[in-house]
Amino acid sequence: MTEKSKKVLLSGIKSTGRPHVANYFGAMKQYVDLQNDYDSRIFIADLHSLTTVQNKNELSQNTLDLAIDYLAIGLDPEKVTIYKQSDLPEVTELAWIFNCITTVPYLMRAHAFKDAEAKSKEVNVGLFDYPILMAADILIHNSDIVPVGKDQKQHIEIARDTAEKFNRIFSTEIFKLPEPYILPSVETIPGVDGLKMSKSNNNHIPLFSTDDEIKKLVMSIVTDSNGGVPVNVYNIHKLFRDEEYLAKLYKEHEGKYKALKEALIEDIIAFISPLRARREEIAKDPESVRLMLKNNAKKLKVEVDEMMNKVREAVGL
Ligand code: TRP
Repeated sequence: MTEKSKKVLLSGIKSTGRPHVANYFGAMKQYVDLQNDYDSRIFIADLHSLTTVQNKNELSQNTLDLAIDYLAIGLDPEKVTIYKQSDLPEVTELAWIFNCITTVPYLMRAHAFKDAEAKSKEVNVGLFDYPILMAADILIHNSDIVPVGKDQKQHIEIARDTAEKFNRIFSTEIFKLPEPYILPSVETIPGVDGLKMSKSNNNHIPLFSTDDEIKKLVMSIVTDSNGGVPVNVYNIHKLFRDEEYLAKLYKEHEGKYKALKEALIEDIIAFISPLRARREEIAKDPESVRLMLKNNAKKLKVEVDEMMNKVREAVGL
């Protein structure tokens, strides 16, 4: 298939620190698995990060780190266009246009906003508007599918609503409705305490962790004392081994939590160490990573300009 006939896949991640195992299995792995079948565009959502990361060095370091992470997990820069969100400032223009057709009560129903409110966090306008910038990210590419973790599902719905609303108000068919791509089997990945793995729960296993970190984290997995299957160990183990293999292993070591944790440590290390090695290699040459980002944004600019010209025309700007 030629690039032109391939469907467009788009996704991005906020650059707010080290990715963890649940980020990988929940979203990033899909990017790798699907990279041959789509015209894939994967970006670093640095403008979204700015809603929370407000430190120059931290923000730019996070951006570079995430670009390196993308390459380290196996995204092939020949097949996937990896870019930095802020290198396409047209998305902020599109977001503004979308802002003008979006009502405040509609955005007040977004989970991320409601959660922040419930925790009495101070909500900046950027955070409130987060879903609209995300809609612009998606729609500016005429994306067909958007692989994301389950927590982003509502954001894709908002992008679809926004596309429909724009098309209706301005009597056009400029925007295509994107489809979410969410793997049901990875809906919720537990952390070391059995709750959903997340940075905010502080129960996560970093994707590029050292052997020592892995050992410590696995040893800290919370188990009950009734001697059955240690559910929290098993549920993490499931990410790295098939169920048949695990059924045997857990039968063999029934009630022996320490042995099971050691087996899990070994499996996680076997999985992570090649990723880590590749990451170290790529990190030696940050300049070429930065150059890749710049060049990719330049390439995308042509299409994005074309799209924005249509949009400006449709609204009368
Ligand atoms: N919200 C996503 C995250 O938290 C990042 C993101 C921004 C995104 N824009 C997007 C994901 C568009 C998919 C499509 O990491």
